[in-house]
Amino acid sequence: MTDTIDQLRAELLSAVSGAADVPALEDARVNALGKKGRITALMATLGSLAPEEKKAFGQRVNVLKTEVSEALDARKAVLAGAALDARLATERMDVSMSVRPEAKGSLHPISQTIDEIAAIFGTMGFDLAEGPDVEDDFHNFTALNFPPGHPARDMHDTFFLPTAEDGNRYLLRTHTSPVQIRTMMTQKPPIRVIIPGRTYRCDYDMTHTPMFHQVELLVIDTETNMSHLRGCLQEFVRTYFGVEDLTTRFRPSFFPFTEPSAEMDIGCSRQGGELKIGNYGDWLEILGCGMVHPNVLRACGLDPEVYQGFAAGMGIERIAMLKYGIPDLRTFFESDLRWLRHYGFAALDVPSVTGGLSR
Ligand code: DAH
Repeated sequence: MTDTIDQLRAELLSAVSGAADVPALEDARVNALGKKGRITALMATLGSLAPEEKKAFGQRVNVLKTEVSEALDARKAVLAGAALDARLATERMDVSMSVRPEAKGSLHPISQTIDEIAAIFGTMGFDLAEGPDVEDDFHNFTALNFPPGHPARDMHDTFFLPTAEDGNRYLLRTHTSPVQIRTMMTQKPPIRVIIPGRTYRCDYDMTHTPMFHQVELLVIDTETNMSHLRGCLQEFVRTYFGVEDLTTRFRPSFFPFTEPSAEMDIGCSRQGGELKIGNYGDWLEILGCGMVHPNVLRACGLDPEVYQGFAAGMGIERIAMLKYGIPDLRTFFESDLRWLRHYGFAALDVPSVTGGLSR
């Protein structure tokens, strides 16, 4: 009997210490202590023993049971530690490794151009104003003196939203001009703001994208005239393009919200198929502008006998393309990393008129 128990102990303990992983150890446990295990079977023989043998035998089997249980626990701790070490080894990360080169970010040329425009008009005392991309008919058209049914409404290729519960037909603003209205209705003159932002029209080809950017200019005061407008815009294009004596030309035009209205051209050359900004005798259209129409002032609660002012609107992509030699408008919004790396700007080079607009 003694032999049997000692033999069994040796066998079970060697199985436990030899278990190479957690499932193997579980097998060893079941084989020893499970319902049909070896120790359990040994216990079951107790009843067949003579009464004087029972006590001693029972005690020895219990000791064996304890020994095997303890050996199982000890081996389990060793295996669990080893498993954790193995997992940590596979999940190890070298935090000193250099980042991938793609992770370097840069400023999009649109952001850069907006920063440059803000820096230039900032030195002339202009503030920045903003408005919502989703507009209503009143701000985008009616208050800007587009009569109902006016063909200019159709010319804008407007994206309309489904008619809202309040009966309004909301739309994606087709220009930044509605923010003129919002500004005049909330601020007291003198007003001097620039309004950069996204605009939307249902159009897509080499020179049109459904979303693009504009910057609007608005000045309202009591003694504002067309020469102020001309001076501001001329100062802007000279600084922006870095051509000190750049000539500008006003051509008569039409916009419902200005009277008189003009389009401004800047000097350029197209010789050899290459566009150059400067006084070379050729002309390039750059923006629309004019004196704010009395009807627009009235729509905003301003008395046209007291106040007047000027406004201008300009496409940001267009002037960015001209300055940075970007040939295709659509590439602005393709998020091509190679393009962004080529045309992007360092985030810390904040444009300023005195420190330099772009490097
Ligand atoms: N809102 C016009 C457009 O998108 C641009 C424009 C022209 C704005 C003349 C003005 C302006 O403020 O005076 O076509």
